[in-house]
Amino acid sequence: MKILVTGGAGYIGSHTCVELLNKDYEIIVVDNFSNSKMESLNRVKEITNKDFKIYNVDMCDYENFEKIFINEKIDGVIHFAGLKAVGESVSIPLKYYQNNLISTLNLIEFMKKYNVNNLVFSSSATVYGDPEIIPIPETAKLNATNPYGRTKLMIEEILRDFCVANKDFNVALLRYFNPIGAHKSGKIGEDPNGIPNNLLPYISQVAVGKLKKLRVFGNDYDTVDGTGVRDYIHVVDLALGHIKAIEKLLTNPGLVTYNLGTGNGTSVLEMIKAFEKASGVKINYEIVDRRPGDIASCYADPTKAKSELNWEAKYNIDDMCIDTWNWQKNNPNGYN
Ligand code: NAD
Ligand code: UD1
Repeated sequence: MKILVTGGAGYIGSHTCVELLNKDYEIIVVDNFSNSKMESLNRVKEITNKDFKIYNVDMCDYENFEKIFINEKIDGVIHFAGLKAVGESVSIPLKYYQNNLISTLNLIEFMKKYNVNNLVFSSSATVYGDPEIIPIPETAKLNATNPYGRTKLMIEEILRDFCVANKDFNVALLRYFNPIGAHKSGKIGEDPNGIPNNLLPYISQVAVGKLKKLRVFGNDYDTVDGTGVRDYIHVVDLALGHIKAIEKLLTNPGLVTYNLGTGNGTSVLEMIKAFEKASGVKINYEIVDRRPGDIASCYADPTKAKSELNWEAKYNIDDMCIDTWNWQKNNPNGYN
C-alpha cells in the first residue's frame, strides 16, 4: 500500500514515516521544508534502512503538486503539512489561512480527481478551546481561540462537507494532545526554529545549556500545584495511532474522529521533576505571569480510540523525558 505523507519531514511526520516503513508500507513524502530539514528524512532512511521518494514541493503550488498525483499511484494520504505556531498565527493570520487551507483544498481536489479515497488529517486538541468537560471526549463543544486553531477547525468542517458529498471518501480526523519525546535511536526528534514556544523543547534546551532559565507561566491555576496541566503523549505512540487510523479507513467508515492522548494530565512542575530525573540535570526555572490565551487543564478521554482503533498510548512521562533527552543531548543543535 502506497501512502503519501504530506509534511513528512516534520516532527510528527518523520516519526510516522519510520513506523510506516517498519510495517512495510510504501511511502512518498511531499514537503516544502518551510519548517523542517532534508536531514530528518535522511535519518528516517538510516533508521529503517529503506528508501523512498521525496518531493520538495509546496502543496499550495497547484501545478507542481498535481504532478505528484499524475506520477504516483497513491492509496492513501496522511496530511501533516501545515504551519503550527499559535503566536505567529495571531500576528500573521493570512499566512496561516493561506498555507493551511489552500494546501488542504488542493489536496482533496486531487484526491477526488485521481480517485484516492483515504485521508488521515492532523487535527489538534486546540479545536476544543477552553474545554467545558475534562477529560475531553470527541463530542465536546468545538471552539478554536486563535487563527491556527481556526484553520484546524475549518479544515475539519471542510472535510465533513466533502464526505457528505463524496460517499466513497474516508477521513480520520485525529486530534492530538501534546506530542513530545523522540525515536529511541536519538536520530530524529523535535527541532524547533529559534526559541521554542512549547514546554518540553524549552526544558530540554535549558538542560543542554542553550537557554538559561525556564519561565513557568503561572502557578495560580486551579490545578494540582497551580501550574498548567496537559496530556503529553509520546510521538511514537502518536505515530502508531496513524497506522491504526489507516487500517480503520480501509473498512470504509466515512468520516471518523479520534482523540490521540494518554488520558493523563501532567503539570509543569511535575514535568520539570520528571525531566530532572531522566537527565540528571537540574532545571533552572522561575514563576512568571500566566501566558495570555493559556488554559488551566487539558487532557483527553481516549476511550474511543481504544475501543474503535484498538490503539492506546504505551509510553509514560518518564519514557518521554528519557527519549527527549537522548535526542537533545545527541543533537544539541537539532539537524544543523
Ligand atoms: P512540523 O512543522 O514539524 O511539520 C509540518 C511539516 O509541514 C513541515 O515539515 C513543513 O515544512 C511542512 N509544510 C508546511 N506547509 C507546507 C506546504 N504548504 N507544503 C508542503 N509542506 C509544508 O509540525 P509537526 O509538529 O510535525 O505537526 C504536524 C501536524 O500536526 C501539523 O499539521 C500540526 O498543526 C499538527 N499538530 C501538531 C501538534 C504539535 O504539538 N506538534 C499538536 C497538534 C497538531
Ligand atoms: C500549545 C499551543 C496549542 C497546541 C499545543 C500542542 C499555544 C498558546 N498553544 O499549547 O495550540 O495545540 O501547544 O502543540 O501555544 N509553559 C511554561 N513555560 C514555557 C512553555 C510552556 O510554563 O516556556 C506551560 C504552559 O503555560 C502550559 C504548558 O507549559 O501550561 C504546556 O505548554 P505548551 O507546550 O506550549 O502547550 P499548550 O499550552 O498545550
